[in-house]
Amino acid sequence: MKHIDIKNIFTDKEYIGQSVTVCGWVRTARNSKTMAFIALNDGTSLNHLQIVIDKSADISFEDALHLGTSLKVIGKVVEDQHGSVEINAEEITVLGTCPGEYPLQKKRHTLEFLRTMPHLRGRTNTFNAVLRVRSIMAEAIHQYFQDRNFVYVNTPLITGSDCEGAGEMFQVTTIGYSTDYKNDEEYYADDFFGRRAGLSVSGQLEGEVAAMAMGKIYTFGPSFRAENSNTPKHLAEFWHVEPEIAFAELPDIIEEAESMVKYVIRTVLDTCQEEMKFFDAHFEKGLIARLEELISHEFGVCDYTEAIRILKESGEDFQYPVEWGCDLQTEHERYISEKVFKKAVFVTNYPKDIKSFYMKQNPDGKTVAAVDLLVPGVGEIIGGSEREADYDKLVAAMNDRNMNLDLYSDYLDLRKFGSVPHGGFGLGFERLIMYVTGVSNIRDVILYPRTVGSIR
Ligand code: 4AD
Repeated sequence: MKHIDIKNIFTDKEYIGQSVTVCGWVRTARNSKTMAFIALNDGTSLNHLQIVIDKSADISFEDALHLGTSLKVIGKVVEDQHGSVEINAEEITVLGTCPGEYPLQKKRHTLEFLRTMPHLRGRTNTFNAVLRVRSIMAEAIHQYFQDRNFVYVNTPLITGSDCEGAGEMFQVTTIGYSTDYKNDEEYYADDFFGRRAGLSVSGQLEGEVAAMAMGKIYTFGPSFRAENSNTPKHLAEFWHVEPEIAFAELPDIIEEAESMVKYVIRTVLDTCQEEMKFFDAHFEKGLIARLEELISHEFGVCDYTEAIRILKESGEDFQYPVEWGCDLQTEHERYISEKVFKKAVFVTNYPKDIKSFYMKQNPDGKTVAAVDLLVPGVGEIIGGSEREADYDKLVAAMNDRNMNLDLYSDYLDLRKFGSVPHGGFGLGFERLIMYVTGVSNIRDVILYPRTVGSIR
């Protein structure tokens, strides 16, 4: 169907005075004595295009005034009184009617209400803006890494190893429940892959394989976590950006993470001005200024041990008690970034017992070269580390955790054959979108959220 994107009607002045065809869904409609007006949106722009119908002209439009109706409109582009453009309709074709039971009748619906209709909420201003910002951010991430000689690799989604070793994996099986098997081993042996398999929680281990050949790589794909976390920042299926860098130590990883986050935010501020103004007006007053401020300063860096000291001396009444060795909870992360540093902060060198087996062991014997990036309002958006590159130390860390070394033979080989210092990080894409848009629930920054107890 030949037609012009509504976005282009707004941006290309060359259409003024011309007769064009546009398509879209009716967002609002007004019917007066002599004229009728339709606000049409085709998803290419946050702005609706006004279609003006002169009732004295011979245009059939009665069915076209219902909210949600899809239309094809032929008409002349003219300037309106506000310096923008509208269309004087010449011909209107209803592509799909929309009855009164269409649920999006009000100007503003709550996000909770919209969550009950993921198939329709894309037609609201909020999701129009979220999905476009998301798309621009995805492109910016690719651009950032491609410009810097990183190779985009696709790591497997079905895996035989649990990367984080935390047992949060969804099982992949073709065999239903059966009491015929005597034990797990027998059951898995009979299954599709001949052993236990699951959906990957992270592409990191395979990402390391690629980095040990290509030097600098990144992945950008879904990761799956079967964790029972019913919070505003956890999804069972989230999009994960995982760069892995050879010949790099912890400070190099931190530098790359800061530079990438700043690049993505700069791109959104420059490219999505309408959308960002919308979020600033409706979701978080001062959002644009906050982001400008964030990218104009160096992020803070704080050792975990120092963070614990700050938290203990804060006098705050935290729900989760703070002791050296504990994992930082969201309330702690937010206190550090919002109250103490008042900006984004990298927390480094966590106790080895609360982090994964693959992290480089520090000389103190107690901590590992881990890093999390905490941002005000959201908490952790990035987790990463320098990796243990020493074969013997890695094996010892895996044995301490009673891991089955046979499942990790490829990974261990990397430490046998030309091992190099290397590291990387994982960015939770939706968490960064939350931070950039001011939308406070992760369920509202992805088309179809998957969370514990909810799938559609
Ligand atoms: O800290 P995580 O678990 O680190 C890893 O997976 C490493 N393998 C990454 C690496 O070094 N390549 O996860 C990384 C990030 C978190 O900081 C968070 O932003 C996001 O992934 N994340 C989630 N986002 C949404 N829902 C969940 N359930 C998430 N779990 C982690």
